[in-house]
Amino acid sequence: MTSSDPYVDSVVFQLLFSRAALSPAIAAAVIFTAAIWLFPGGIAWALSRGRRSIPGPSGVFLGMSSSLAHRVLAGLARSLDAFQLMAFSVGMTRFIVSSHPETAKEILSNSAFADRPIKESAYELLFHRAMGFAPFGEYWRNLRRISATYLFSPRRISSFGVHRVVIGESMVDEVKHQMERDGAVELKKVLHFGSLNNIMMSVFGKRFDFGKGDGTELEGLVKEGYQLLGMFNWSDHLPLLGLLDFQGIRRRCRKLVSRVNVFVGQIIEEHRIKRQASRSREADEREAADFVDVLLDLQEDEKLSDSDMIAVLWEMIFRGTDTVVILLEWTMARMVLHPEIQAKAQAEIDAVTGSSSRAVSTSDIQNLPYLQAIVKETLRMHPPGPLLSWARLAIHDVQVGKHFIPAGTTAMVNMWSITHDGRFWSEPNVFNPERFMAEEVNITGCDLRLAPFGAGRRVCPGKSMALATVHLWLAQLLHNFKWLPNSSSAVDLSECLNMSLEMKNPLVCAAVPRF
Ligand code: HEM
Repeated sequence: MTSSDPYVDSVVFQLLFSRAALSPAIAAAVIFTAAIWLFPGGIAWALSRGRRSIPGPSGVFLGMSSSLAHRVLAGLARSLDAFQLMAFSVGMTRFIVSSHPETAKEILSNSAFADRPIKESAYELLFHRAMGFAPFGEYWRNLRRISATYLFSPRRISSFGVHRVVIGESMVDEVKHQMERDGAVELKKVLHFGSLNNIMMSVFGKRFDFGKGDGTELEGLVKEGYQLLGMFNWSDHLPLLGLLDFQGIRRRCRKLVSRVNVFVGQIIEEHRIKRQASRSREADEREAADFVDVLLDLQEDEKLSDSDMIAVLWEMIFRGTDTVVILLEWTMARMVLHPEIQAKAQAEIDAVTGSSSRAVSTSDIQNLPYLQAIVKETLRMHPPGPLLSWARLAIHDVQVGKHFIPAGTTAMVNMWSITHDGRFWSEPNVFNPERFMAEEVNITGCDLRLAPFGAGRRVCPGKSMALATVHLWLAQLLHNFKWLPNSSSAVDLSECLNMSLEMKNPLVCAAVPRF
């Protein structure tokens, strides 16, 4: 319904002018309120500078608090024919969303959108000092440079390959153990254990036993932080509510921050003590150092305080752990649902490893194009960040297509809508990895038909590390087991959007050893 709806106009007209009792002041107030309420894009747009109508729902849009916000937005864009750009308001926050590769590229690669809106929970958890939420500027640029060189460089990723293989093998053992014990596997738990240890190894140089001591504390911290960051917080959009903290988010964040400070602070201190004991480390030893060592080496030059370091390290754990787990869980759900695709991937792996003669290694991945196509197809059908995780913020006034976007507007890309659009993908709702065997599609941010890691200056810096991990562990899981549906629960592809797009009901399946 828009302000130009003739039915609405006539009702408003009759209400106002058929009753002589209505004073002109009240009539003016009612007209003003109705005009604001019915403005395309809603209240925040109606009250903004340079109002120029972009199609979008009027009033206040409640769909962002839905666990299927990506689908709600896609449906609205379709019904309003607003694929290129749609405007909406959540409280007093102005949003735009693109569901088209053209405008998506325009937004993501424009430096005007290189900032991110900071949610209250992220601020409270000190993430404004970490890379993902740091304002576009010198501090953020330094963090990107440091992590590109010391954490995400091809050399570092390959040097951690040996840990990934060992962790993958321990997950295979855990699957065997669960099958013997329960006759079924809840894969997410196994993957979570592996992924958290993988990140802990590369960031902290430390492995944890989950379910015991420090491991239990770490699991609790990650779970709580994940929930807090994923929650829709009304205070972010209605400033007055911020005073009340009626969802209790601020209180929980503050409690969590003090626990995180103790936990991560202790690890930093352990590193300091170790470094003092061996002041003159050799260059090759440095190469094997973890990210804490790297940050300590740079601490003075880069003016990083201890709390900055905690924020940077903690963010890596949040960003790096669950995205990988969620992508692998969706991929395995697809393998269970499509046995012929699973068998084809296993035949490809067997051809490279000589069937049971040896285990999968990191160097095999480049010879497994079909397996890589399966991961791409899963990213297309189930992008872990359907609205590209965290949004962008217009730093200054900017033009997108023919539309004026005022500074302070939050911009999003609905990647889920693009990857399910029949104009860009044939049979978009069919899981078909073959499409990526027929056509090479770059998924790292060049081709906005499929950019699950975002694009432009704030593209995901962990994308190569994530893909290296997912490819290897998928190959190990498929090489070792035939995956079947569990006799008591079918695969359920229902979604739930928290911080990432998760399976609503975790995958429970059976794994039969292949050798
Ligand atoms: C399947 C796995 C992953 C997916 C789908 C994913 C997706 C994304 C997306 C969509 C963004 C926003 C990009 C944009 O605004 O254009 C992002 C940002 C980010 N990701 Fe990832 N990510 C994954 C894994 C990782 C890993 C393993 C790490 C680190 C260990 C990581 C660290 C980050 C960081 C630090 C940012 C913020 C970058 C900035 O704002 O400058 N991600 N990721």
